[in-house]
Amino acid sequence: MTDHFSELERRRQAAIQGGSQSRIDRQHERGKLTARERVTVLLDEDSFVELGQLVQHQSTDFDLADQRPPGDGVITGYGTVHGRLVYLYAQDFTIFGGSLGRAHASKIVQVLDLALQNGAPVIGLNDSGGARIQEGVVSLGGYADIFLKNTLASGVIPQISAIMGPCAGGAVYSPAITDLVFMVQGTSHMFVTGPDVVHAVTQEEVTAEDLGGAATHSERSGVAHAVYQNDITCLEAIRTVLNYLPQNCEEQASMDTAFQPPTSHMEDLNTLVPHNPNKPYDMHDVIRLLVDRSSFFPIHDGFARNLICGFARIGGHAVGLVANQPAHLAGVLDIDASVKGARFVRFCDAFNLPIVTLEDVPGFLPGTDQEWRGIIRHGAKLLYAFCEATVPKITIITRKAYGGAYDVMSSKHIRGDLNYAWPGAEIAVMGAKGAVRILHRAALKNAEDPASLEEEFSRDYQERFSNPYIAAEHGYVDEVIYPNETRERLIRGLAMLRNKILTNPRKKHGNMPL
Ligand code: HXC
Repeated sequence: MTDHFSELERRRQAAIQGGSQSRIDRQHERGKLTARERVTVLLDEDSFVELGQLVQHQSTDFDLADQRPPGDGVITGYGTVHGRLVYLYAQDFTIFGGSLGRAHASKIVQVLDLALQNGAPVIGLNDSGGARIQEGVVSLGGYADIFLKNTLASGVIPQISAIMGPCAGGAVYSPAITDLVFMVQGTSHMFVTGPDVVHAVTQEEVTAEDLGGAATHSERSGVAHAVYQNDITCLEAIRTVLNYLPQNCEEQASMDTAFQPPTSHMEDLNTLVPHNPNKPYDMHDVIRLLVDRSSFFPIHDGFARNLICGFARIGGHAVGLVANQPAHLAGVLDIDASVKGARFVRFCDAFNLPIVTLEDVPGFLPGTDQEWRGIIRHGAKLLYAFCEATVPKITIITRKAYGGAYDVMSSKHIRGDLNYAWPGAEIAVMGAKGAVRILHRAALKNAEDPASLEEEFSRDYQERFSNPYIAAEHGYVDEVIYPNETRERLIRGLAMLRNKILTNPRKKHGNMPL
């Protein structure tokens, strides 16, 4: 019996060790944790149960027959985060560079299947040289198996990807299908083709960091939803974000009864929006005053900063927040902001998170660049997402709600449940200057002093249209409220809407304008 036990112990220890000590040291020198260390940070203490620890590849090509490390370069299993079940896989760069072969892929597919069947989130920690070159097409097939499972699980269970090393070639498409992609500064890279291939094909010189580093994907491409300084802060962020999410699409959003109100006084909200409609203010200041203390978790913080998206708690209710940001490009909706918002709204809707919209939007961004790149079809994504969302939707118009953007930003017309406006709100087809130049073109052309006449027309237009009361008369806003009443209205509204039931017409799936 002792022999049996010692054989098991020998095999276990080999699996736990992972790659050679020199490869582990190299991983640490780069500021990266090993796969097993990452699992320990991510999960609650002593909660991890490993699956397939002794799985080995069956390949014999090249010299693979002589190298059959237990686990095949990926750690898979389940455990808990804040006491709730999660499934995970962590690629081990110290074994074949974390590359993916048949056995490695099958292990990932197994946890995806289990997560889907048992209705719990799945987290992928990616650190891999991509398809295992020695296994050829078999490893490509392994990726395709994963892509399929990711797609089938989409909208059923939350899927979170952390990129904690290289992620190249088609391998990027598994994280891309998942709900959230987090990257680590300096050590993570994502690209379809690396710098050498880029140079060979296009003659462009580019570093891996510029091509697909964390800054590139969080600020330019929008592929990454958040960036963290190191492995530990990234893994802690995954633990935090899971707090806001239900286990699966059948569960209600979570409630935190121990929430703390914001630190500042609600009255500060009354003076936050400048009288001059052209003066910016920081919507983050509004958010800070409305949400439970330190509860805002930004998504896509560095990308399309004219629209703020993130999770938060309001009176303990987990919500998704979508807010125009007047401090960046005046809060205008452009292509990137529309796509960012659409993706976030759909994520919230899929996982039963009520959507709170804070609106101060001068409209869609005009110009050839936006038109030629398709602002019509991209803007339509945001409209479509808000229209189809059946979760509770509460909208606060803090200042401007102009033109099509008024309709898009969760208006009453597209099934906003509770729509409020602050007293300084301007709900109109367009701003006064633009409107006057169209309405009074002839008069202004023939005027002796066009500037003062335009001023007069603008004042008149503003008095008549740039206020919330016409919309309130039509019932397009439920109430005009003092800003300092907003948090209380949100808390009561979220409680009132908690059991909302609304379904869309039966269909195979909609045809969102992609
Ligand atoms: C097999 C691989 C590997 C791979 C790395 N290794 N990538 N083994 N298949 N794809 C091995 C290396 O041989 C090495 O083994 C160990 O992992 C560490 O790699 P290094 O090169 O020493 O590390 P580093 O200098 O950090 O460079 C990491 C790297 C580089 C940038 C990832 O290894 C690299 O460029 N690898 C190839 C990436 C690639 O082109 N993959 C295919 C992408 S296409 P030893 O034994 O020497 O330590 C793809 C298609 C998917 O993935 C399609 C799905 C549809």
